[in-house]
Amino acid sequence: MPKPRIAVLVSGSGSNLQALIDAVAGGKISGSIQMVISDRVGAFALQRAAKHEIPSICIDRKAADFADRLVEQLDTISPDLIVLAGFLSILPAALIHKFRNRIINIHPSLIPAFCGKGFYGERVHRAVIECGAKVSGATAHFVDEGTDTGPIILQQPVEVLAEDTAETLAARVLTVEHQLIVKAVSLFCDSRLKVQGHKVIIL
Ligand code: GRF
Repeated sequence: MPKPRIAVLVSGSGSNLQALIDAVAGGKISGSIQMVISDRVGAFALQRAAKHEIPSICIDRKAADFADRLVEQLDTISPDLIVLAGFLSILPAALIHKFRNRIINIHPSLIPAFCGKGFYGERVHRAVIECGAKVSGATAHFVDEGTDTGPIILQQPVEVLAEDTAETLAARVLTVEHQLIVKAVSLFCDSRLKVQGHKVIIL
């Protein structure tokens, strides 16, 4: 049985990518990362890929043909799974349709709270602090045509401390993101995720 082929899409530092790379190397994920695609030139995630000799490419998100080039690039490796690891661009609807329940995203809040258009990165944690929420967390979910609206795979809460700033909260949530993205990808690669309607059953 060939190992599931994984493509990882990134935009930033790539700490979630690093968690996946380490998990594959450590045998926690029974798949193989075939390619890393960044939508931003100079994303540190690309250096992480290069260090582990994972083929990578940057497709500038500002390019008029960004969506077409992204689809073309993915077609070259025929992935079984696409992982959005801190990826900030919108995916073309045709890609989401083609990869129904085969695109996993990690979001730094407990969906459906603090998510949707404009809620990404530090903005999420600032909103949590500003509204005085006592609990936040992270969510791994399948991607559908909405923004952070796909079937939820895994969630884990993170307590918001009285002395927290957006930065200190972000750091604790990011640690949980790394755990969840690894677990979600591992479950997918082991064929243990079953989507029933909008719910995900873990087998
Ligand atoms: C982080 O803000 C994380 O919450 C979100 O993407 C951002 C960068 O993650 N998922 P990474 O270090 O590039 O994986």
